[in-house]
Amino acid sequence: MDWAMKLLVALLALVAPGFSLENGLMRTPPMGWLAWERYRCSINCHEDPDNCINERLFMAMADRLAEDGWRELGYVYVNIDDCWMALQRDEGGVLVPDPERFPSGIRALADYVHSRGLKLGIYGDMGSMTCMGYPGTTLATVALDAQTFASWGVDMLKLDGCYSSSLERALGYPAMAKALNNTGRPIGYSCSWPAYDGGLPPEVNYTLLADICNLWRNFDDIEDSWQSVLSIVDWFSEHQDVLQPMAGPGHWNDPDMLLIGNYGLSFEQAKAQMALWTVLAAPLFMSTDLRAISPQNVDILQNKLMIRINQDPLGIQGRRVLKTKHHIEVFVRPLSKDASAVVFFSRRTDMPYRYRTSLGALNFTGHALYEAQDVYTENVISGLTRDTDFTVVINPSGVVMWHVYPIVGKESLPWL
Ligand code: GLA
Repeated sequence: MDWAMKLLVALLALVAPGFSLENGLMRTPPMGWLAWERYRCSINCHEDPDNCINERLFMAMADRLAEDGWRELGYVYVNIDDCWMALQRDEGGVLVPDPERFPSGIRALADYVHSRGLKLGIYGDMGSMTCMGYPGTTLATVALDAQTFASWGVDMLKLDGCYSSSLERALGYPAMAKALNNTGRPIGYSCSWPAYDGGLPPEVNYTLLADICNLWRNFDDIEDSWQSVLSIVDWFSEHQDVLQPMAGPGHWNDPDMLLIGNYGLSFEQAKAQMALWTVLAAPLFMSTDLRAISPQNVDILQNKLMIRINQDPLGIQGRRVLKTKHHIEVFVRPLSKDASAVVFFSRRTDMPYRYRTSLGALNFTGHALYEAQDVYTENVISGLTRDTDFTVVINPSGVVMWHVYPIVGKESLPWL
């Protein structure tokens, strides 16, 4: 950004003081299903009718979410991404869905999704076109598009940022927050703004984002590979001092979708992504074919204790507290009732690694007696004080995840 632009952005921040989205939504990280990572812009429904972006795909995913136990666990959003629109707006300038692939219209799809006890998310782009070339939302159409989405009964908007200048984004993202508020319909607001401005201050103003967006994409798109997961985890860890304090009830950092159930991750890596996203208080958006997902992957995604930790009411994002020369990393997330989630993560590629440590070495300061439950095996480890040495065996590119909670305080432990 040159100085003139910086000045303009600073001035803009001054002219819109104190506005906040305040839609009361997403007090815990949102959960659901989002089309992009798995289904991209597959629009050839003649050749691949079951795997293309059309209303049938979203109805099928809604059916699975409602019937296979997902909804009760909190996976309630069914979210459309790019490539749902017709190439032109209508005569009135209103966005319209592709008539062949969404013949019933978005209102009807929203009704269907709502009838299954779920919520519908939609996608737009602050700019002249979406990333795949469909009509964008310009400054002139922000209010109209918000109104259109509300009139369709949409519950969440992902506003992407392709084909825009940083000035348009600086004006457009807050304008959309206001426009969504003005509709009177609570619509969760996911902003891709930071990802288009480098993800870091001073270009990105996270205080403002936390006021106007429920979640925001900070960094690159996830791809179906372990490499991609690692690059995201690295970036979030390197910049955790900036990012971690910005997350909280109603406003979350978004490291992008879960890959679990697709092609790029091994079983260990799938468990690792779930654990790392949970310790980071990340939104949990699956992007996989729920009609064909394996029981093993369902177990990872439907792990009750995992979800309870992800949805902890305090909404504190965890941090990487340790990185050893043996390629072990440890992440800790504080939870309500003095509990914590601990993820022991191995970046090794040789064999299961026996990692010996203690809670004290992981910055636990309390004098309580703790118990830990392994989130995946459900084994309980009792009698831990912060000085007790223990060993966890972490598989290559895998995790061990513990839910650690105090049993009694020091005052009841006269021998400590
Ligand atoms: C961008 C976003 C992705 C997805 C695509 C759609 O790359 O970051 O999440 O929405 O656009 O074209």
